[in-house]
Amino acid sequence: MVILVTGSTGLTGAGVVASAARRGHRVAALGWKQSSPPEGAATFQQVDLRDENLVTRAVFDTFPDVIINTAAVSDARLCEEDPDSAGQVNTRLPGRLADLARHLGARLIHVSTDMVFDGKAGHYRPADPVNPRSLYGRLKLEAENEILRRAPGFSVIVRTTLLTGNSPSGKRSVHENLFAAWTRGEAPALFTDELRQPCAASNLADALVELAERNDLTGIHHWAGAEVLSRHEIGRRVLEHFKLPATLIREATLKNNPAFQDRPGNLSLDIGTLSGKLKTKPLDFSAQLDLLRVPLPSREWYNNL
Ligand SMILES: NC(=O)c1ccc[n+]([C@@H]2O[C@H](COP(=O)([O-])OP(=O)(O)OC[C@H]3O[C@@H](n4cnc5c(N)ncnc54)[C@H](OP(=O)(O)O)[C@@H]3O)[C@@H](O)[C@H]2O)c1
Repeated sequence: MVILVTGSTGLTGAGVVASAARRGHRVAALGWKQSSPPEGAATFQQVDLRDENLVTRAVFDTFPDVIINTAAVSDARLCEEDPDSAGQVNTRLPGRLADLARHLGARLIHVSTDMVFDGKAGHYRPADPVNPRSLYGRLKLEAENEILRRAPGFSVIVRTTLLTGNSPSGKRSVHENLFAAWTRGEAPALFTDELRQPCAASNLADALVELAERNDLTGIHHWAGAEVLSRHEIGRRVLEHFKLPATLIREATLKNNPAFQDRPGNLSLDIGTLSGKLKTKPLDFSAQLDLLRVPLPSREWYNNL
């Protein structure tokens, strides 16, 4: 199959390109600011996907069987800083890709987020009521609605949660953010009552490519790791894995920090409906830790400890 991957220079996108190439697909990869092509791409172009004409041209140049959309402004703080730009990438782009997929008879696999939920209940199923508490969550929810409105029979939406792994930039995943803070001399406060279900980006990538190969699944699905952990426990396990001192993180609670009252407490997902249908299996956190490397920007700090 020909698979067009947007966001191919990101944490998830690079994994999707590698996974699709390994499984024998021809991958046309799109990136933006980062100029190095991801490993496994047959072609690579840098395109600003906020420009609808460029999006259309890139899709028609490729004539894909499947589009896997991992492009996003995935940092909630960046969405608040530049809401227009975030809206173009997180909402308008997926809508446009849905139109193009339907027009070509291709399928669209789109990545969404657990942040469409408010975190009050946890263990969310795909049909549970949504209630995003951030602009990022609202934009991603609007994208889901646009896709389902424009190309319901051609689209799969996969909501996922906090991603682990080694990104091409070394600055995007959970452990990379922690290492960046440690390298700056900080000991971040991590909440014991903020529950997440971390997922390896490479494992998500395998699930997305498997979905690309299936034409019997449409609509909204959930994918995450096999364990629900607090942010604090995630930080503690990362420290232990890299044999770093426990003093590099501080224990805190959301309930005692009024400034963080809007942060969703429990964003765990029920992944049963999808994991029962795919050969790809969710990974527990130990298996995810085994995949991690010390991020390049922090190597000197780590080696000098
Ligand atoms: N990271 C998480 O923990 C997490 C959790 C839940 C859901 N998600 C969702 O998972 C998906 C992938 O997230 P990720 O963390 O893997 O993303 P990421 O590492 O932040 O990568 C984002 C990608 O989008 C590209 N991009 C951004 N703006 C663009 C533009 N204007 N034109 C073209 N490309 C543009 C970036 O290109 P350059 O790098 O070249 O600039 C990069 O390749 C997103 O839909 C996100 O909402 C992520």
